[in-house]
Amino acid sequence: MENFTFYNPVRVLFGEATIPQIGRELKNAGIKRVLLLAGGGSIKSNDVYENVVKSLRRAGIEWEELWGVRPNPTLEHARSGIEMCREGNLGAILAVGGGSVIDEAKSIAAGYYLDDLWQAFEGSAKINNALPVYTILTISATCSEMNMFAVLSNEDEKKKWAIRSEHIFPKLSIIDPAVQSSLPWRQTANGGVDAISHTMEYYFLGTNQEISISVGEAVISTIIKAVDRLKADSNDYNARANLAWASTLALNGVAGAAMRGGDWAVHNIEHSISAFFPEVAHAEGLAVVFPAWILYMYDNNKNQFDRFAKNIWGAGSLEDGVSKLKEKYKSWGAPVSLRDLNIARDMIPEIARNSVIRGNFGILKKLGEQDVINILEVAY
Ligand code: NZQ
Ligand code: ZN
Repeated sequence: MENFTFYNPVRVLFGEATIPQIGRELKNAGIKRVLLLAGGGSIKSNDVYENVVKSLRRAGIEWEELWGVRPNPTLEHARSGIEMCREGNLGAILAVGGGSVIDEAKSIAAGYYLDDLWQAFEGSAKINNALPVYTILTISATCSEMNMFAVLSNEDEKKKWAIRSEHIFPKLSIIDPAVQSSLPWRQTANGGVDAISHTMEYYFLGTNQEISISVGEAVISTIIKAVDRLKADSNDYNARANLAWASTLALNGVAGAAMRGGDWAVHNIEHSISAFFPEVAHAEGLAVVFPAWILYMYDNNKNQFDRFAKNIWGAGSLEDGVSKLKEKYKSWGAPVSLRDLNIARDMIPEIARNSVIRGNFGILKKLGEQDVINILEVAY
């Protein structure tokens, strides 16, 4: 087993009716004024917003609100958040929403101390500090609530890139699975697909890390069961809770211990798709690309791919395992081909070119432009 560093300082409050604790938590941390960051308004339709502001009021915390964080959040919107924090003397950011809101909150937090936030994404500026970020999670998918990553889209340059820094770990995340029963089915399914994909980015590098491989299998199987149950009953609290915690475990470092940092080729390809087609949800791009990547990569770690087919799908061959994976995604209403996403075949070379703009990528095998074209052809 390889050496690794595990560090995760995020405090998590998990469970029903935990959101009203946010005011006291901020107060105990000495925070007086926050930026409340939110998306398109879902938190107003399910009482989350009301519970948050009641709690802030009770604790005497002042706040300013910035709405309109988009799925696939943008650099431009994050810049307006940085301005608000600077002008309003706001000492922390409270992200109320999903991965998009949390990622933008982390970006604002880091950008507050930088001349130009995008330079951190390009790697030409280092993140040495960040405002404290607190999160109220409303959709389980990305694990942004418990990791040190943030993804933003620079629309002008068609780049959807990530930052990674220990400074942007949230201080505290509140996960109340019950508030996720207001999710439209498509978003619940997307959350499951994204979290399964995170696990798989590590899992296929597996050789002798039995504990991380087994954790990965438990996470994937739990998510499949939970999403199936939620399809039958979207108010099933235990299914929500298991899905929520499994999604967090998928990318908080636990399932990735000793797994060489993960492969991340599929995420990289997906980010290139979303950069051209912002209307494609992150998970939908992953649902399309991952099965194709698995088939393309088989020869690079046969034992582990076979183990995946057998242990997750009870299948006797990788082809059979992958078709069961696709059937499962289809049964959840997820797209499984570029055609399902309405992406024309002649876009494939452009997406591939864009994906290697910073060089070849992937750990199991370094992928170049032609590899990406081949994978996307399988995915077409
Ligand atoms: O904007 P609102 O109105 O809140 O609606 C959201 C949004 O439309 C809605 N929603 C969220 N909670 C809800 C709800 N609707 C009803 N009831 C609720 N309880 O769901 C929609 C999707 O939300 P979003 O935050 O975009 O989803 P997700 O959590 O999947 O985040 C996706 C973003 O995270 C990035 C993705 O690339 C994408 O930009 N990722 C971040 C990662 C990280 N930080 O570690 C890793 C991931 O691989 C990923 O790249
Ligand atoms: Zn993801």
